[in-house]
Amino acid sequence: MAISDFDLVLFGGSGDLAMRKLLPAMYARDYCQDLPDSARIICVGRNDWSQEQFLQTVEASAKPHIKETPVDEHWQRFLQRIVYVPINASDVSTYGKLADTLRRDPAITLVYYLATPPSLFATICDNLKATGLATPNSRVVLEKPLGRDLESAKQINAEVGKVFAESQIYRIDHYLGKETVQNLLALRFGNILFEPLWRREWISDVQITIAEKIGVGNRLGYYDTSGALRDMLQNHLLQLLCIVAMEPPTSISPDAVRDSKLQVLRSLKRFTPTTLSQNIVRGQYRAGYVDGKPVPGYREEPDAPKQSKTETFVALKAEIDTWRWAGVPFYLRTGKRMSDRLAEIVVRFKQIPHSIFNQPTSSFQPNSLVIRLQPDEGLSLNLMAKTPGDSMRLKQAELELDFREQFKAPRMEAYERLLLDVLRGQLTLFMRGDELEAAWEWVEPILDHWDQDDNSPLPYASGTWGPAASSALIGRDGLQWREES
Ligand code: BG6
Repeated sequence: MAISDFDLVLFGGSGDLAMRKLLPAMYARDYCQDLPDSARIICVGRNDWSQEQFLQTVEASAKPHIKETPVDEHWQRFLQRIVYVPINASDVSTYGKLADTLRRDPAITLVYYLATPPSLFATICDNLKATGLATPNSRVVLEKPLGRDLESAKQINAEVGKVFAESQIYRIDHYLGKETVQNLLALRFGNILFEPLWRREWISDVQITIAEKIGVGNRLGYYDTSGALRDMLQNHLLQLLCIVAMEPPTSISPDAVRDSKLQVLRSLKRFTPTTLSQNIVRGQYRAGYVDGKPVPGYREEPDAPKQSKTETFVALKAEIDTWRWAGVPFYLRTGKRMSDRLAEIVVRFKQIPHSIFNQPTSSFQPNSLVIRLQPDEGLSLNLMAKTPGDSMRLKQAELELDFREQFKAPRMEAYERLLLDVLRGQLTLFMRGDELEAAWEWVEPILDHWDQDDNSPLPYASGTWGPAASSALIGRDGLQWREES
């Protein structure tokens, strides 16, 4: 679907996200000629810079993040789209400069992307309303963190909702923009093969892991008040869980997909005092080695509080109380400074009921489907097959689908796809307000439990798979994390 002319306003336009992700994503789409000639990117920031000064910043801070160094001709064309408007987002009297810059033509799509701390969301929306810039056909994009608990999420929804209708609000979770996540939809609902097996009768457990090698980097100020549960699990991991577990939506339309996801979030088994202490492991990285290089522990990172109790790792066991999933454990895990960079979903099927071969049933590896999001994108289906030769011995073999090999078409980064969707007015890959609240509602008891707990997160050495308690969590059910089996 072609994109019509637009003014994309980036609040936080000189910030880290704009430089690392948003402008490079827009450049990539511009390079592929997806953007109309007269479309513009209006970067709003507090610094009282001239247009030239801002473009120098873009040159120094955004250009290095573009995958293939831009050809000068394309780069110059892209820079011509950018307009810098210095305003103080909290001060309504400065919005006149923005109003003078925007083209007020109903045929031109107007998008406000709030890449700012959430504490500014309400003020910016109010100021847009007060200055008549929040028009009925404008759109607003909200970047995470979308709250830090249920109450703050509700407040964001309520305040933004006073200015924009739900159909105008795009809550970003960049994991939903990843190619493999959409391939999971294709796999589940574009094939007849999996659906009959996609249930408690045939699936023994599901593991979802997002592991990173990087540490907290220069984001300590944010991260120390957030931690892995808020930063990754409440959003990215729960969204992946929803896509794996949801009932077939009636169509790919926004509300059909979001209704199905919401049903999953609302069916997540609530924690009890016992499951809160037994089914959740939190950890914090200590010094160690990643890729053979020594790295400091979390508390030794620059500016880190020496007694910080912020978790950099979390693993938990979730269950979904529905006919389809009752009794099937979903193990979720994420951490920084882990042994490998990896994001994957492992769906493990049940063991065969009886072996007809001269090897015991226990020597059969249960079938599993591994859906890889990172570092490469693909699927593998693990099956038992006969080993070549005279004897009838069975061993695990892999049916491998590498998306990059299979489809030679150029890839799109998550932000590229999501920005295009905003510009096209496609809401399917964005969270609805009630989904956001349902996700917070489920994780909040964990946060409360940790607040009341005097213990610190369990230490784990950088470059490992987290605290031993994480293996024990899944081990209690007679299982292992995939890379440990
Ligand atoms: C972000 C988190 O949402 O996702 C970061 O705030 C994390 O802490 C990042 O590093 C991971 O995203 P990706 O796409 O690199 O796996």
